[in-house]
Amino acid sequence: MARYGLAWREQRRFCVSTLRNLRLGKKLLEQWVTKEAACLCLSFDDYDGHPFRPNELLDKAASNVIATLSCGHRFEYDDPRFLRLLDLAQEGLKEGSGFLPQVLNAIPVLLRIPWLAGKVLCSQKAFLAQLDELLNEHRMTWDPAQPPRSLTDAFLAEMEKAKENPESSFNDENLRMVVADLFLAGMVSTSITLAWGLLLMILHPDVQRRVQQEIDDVIGQARPPEMGDQTRMPYTTAVIHEVQHFGDIVPMNMPHMTSRDIEVQGFLIPKVGLGPSSSSSAPAPGGCPSVATARWAQSGNPGPPVFNATTLTV
Ligand code: HEM
Repeated sequence: MARYGLAWREQRRFCVSTLRNLRLGKKLLEQWVTKEAACLCLSFDDYDGHPFRPNELLDKAASNVIATLSCGHRFEYDDPRFLRLLDLAQEGLKEGSGFLPQVLNAIPVLLRIPWLAGKVLCSQKAFLAQLDELLNEHRMTWDPAQPPRSLTDAFLAEMEKAKENPESSFNDENLRMVVADLFLAGMVSTSITLAWGLLLMILHPDVQRRVQQEIDDVIGQARPPEMGDQTRMPYTTAVIHEVQHFGDIVPMNMPHMTSRDIEVQGFLIPKVGLGPSSSSSAPAPGGCPSVATARWAQSGNPGPPVFNATTLTV
């Protein structure tokens, strides 16, 4: 369970502003995504129109963007080190949602039992060791005089600035934890959303045709897409939102709790035990409801969500 103290706030602020800087200016993030999308399309082409399961390739593409933004390294899809990193990340995610880690998360004092501490999260530890290798290679080539190439470069600059400050949260341990968080939180969420997008376009060829038409009209076939195109693509944007709404890939969201009773716009949110807070279309059974949950409840919608292609008129 995250403690939203000073270190958390410092790290969060750093991540948000670094990701923003990589997105603006030279638009590095956009270039990395576009390049990866081109590699992904080439891998799809390898199947030459035959049916295939895209999930593994989607995992690789999403992870490669995160690897580039965090460690300045893009992998070939068949690189054995990359395949091991992805395997360990997948295993680590499964492992983290197991019964024992959940108990230890709720009662961290149990981790003081040495035997127990050694038993849990073996894949996550192996994943972190693999990540350390990558981070060490990257930091060997860091040149503080140059603009940051990645989140790690920006982090190293903060570590340098905070050398004399013992209170600072910019240290080696937090560097690996921030990069690990980006990998674990970003990889599966992005690739599963993309997989939902592909499936829904197959199931709704009429919607697919209209999206393709808008792409052809606005972007054409001669150049890659840019973020700037989005404002001129309202139909495609609406379809992406509907895919995310329908896919609902984190239905219970993360568990949240308030540290004290708090009033927000006249509503009392009491300090309650741990409970899920849903940002999804499904109602949350407990914890702090989100805006989306409240909207769902107000709509009186009784059934599961539908991919509502008919409302996608703009
Ligand atoms: C379609 C893609 C994605 C979906 C659906 C998604 C969904 C979510 C959700 C539901 C949360 C929990 C928010 C909460 O606590 O209320 C979350 C948090 C987070 N996500 Fe994502 N995410 C996606 C992509 C990414 C990517 C690409 C990254 C990183 C490269 C990322 C990094 C994070 C991090 C670090 C957090 C924790 C934020 C915090 O506690 O402040 N996510 N995401």
